[in-house]
Amino acid sequence: MFDLAGKVAVVTGASSGLGADSARAYAKSGANVALLARRKDRLDELAAELSDMGVKAFPVQCDVTDETQVKNAIASVIKEFGRIDILLNNAGAAVRGGVHTLTEEEWDKSMNINVKGMFLVSKYVIPHMMEQKYGKVVNISSVNARVADKLDVFIRHGYNASKSAVLGLSLGMAASYGKYNITVNSIGPGLFESEMTKDTLFKSEEFLKGYSAHCPMDRPGKRGELTGTVLYLSSDASSYVTGQYIIVDGGTSLV
Ligand SMILES: NC(=O)c1ccc[n+]([C@@H]2O[C@H](COP(=O)([O-])OP(=O)(O)OC[C@H]3O[C@@H](n4cnc5c(N)ncnc54)[C@H](O)[C@@H]3O)[C@@H](O)[C@H]2O)c1
Repeated sequence: MFDLAGKVAVVTGASSGLGADSARAYAKSGANVALLARRKDRLDELAAELSDMGVKAFPVQCDVTDETQVKNAIASVIKEFGRIDILLNNAGAAVRGGVHTLTEEEWDKSMNINVKGMFLVSKYVIPHMMEQKYGKVVNISSVNARVADKLDVFIRHGYNASKSAVLGLSLGMAASYGKYNITVNSIGPGLFESEMTKDTLFKSEEFLKGYSAHCPMDRPGKRGELTGTVLYLSSDASSYVTGQYIIVDGGTSLV
């Protein structure tokens, strides 16, 4: 049920962190993977690593906020592989600040990368999935779609808003495309070490202490602990699961 042999997956924001980890997990499960992000050198390195696992990896430089780049990137993936079975909408950015400090530009950055980028990539992938009557879309939201924190280091109102918008987008897509045998689900990660968090949240003793105090499992997520959920929602193991939001946070949002 979890086997992805012969499937084609597109991963956005694949150049680091949870996106790169997920691309590795797809490759280990047998999928060919198209890697989309802005840093081509990183994508080339990862593609070489995945090719060594015996699958095809296709690096494509793409800024997900630019419609022309997205359109061309997806067209090139279709040309390369002929189909797209899985879309992991993972690219994201965490801009810090509350409504009293955020500039319009910072607000737009959150919404553009985290929401508009997901819309644009889906816009060009979904028609192929509709045609082939098969598709698994996984949208990376955040536990911060539903919970916030009052610590200064954690104030990210644009991020909160954008990650809640991801849930709304996922619900709409799930409702519309189920009849095409396309499932659309979202994931809400808690705290994981990545480029996004290593120099901010992971550098704040106060935040880490607070997180662990709230977390029933007493620790942040380890690299690789998100990929089981990504694989579940990307494979036929979840063939009758759609419109769901799975939180992977060691229970932190419960207490
Ligand atoms: N790390 C965490 O604790 C955590 C928690 C909750 C949610 N998330 C979400 O997980 C996803 C991955 O984040 P991460 O933690 O691995 O951080 P990361 O910074 O390592 O990865 C984000 C990726 O998105 C890419 N990206 C950013 N803007 C882009 C653009 N315009 N076009 C193309 N690619 C772009 C980056 O280059 C990078 O590869 C994000 O959506 C993030 O919001 C992370």
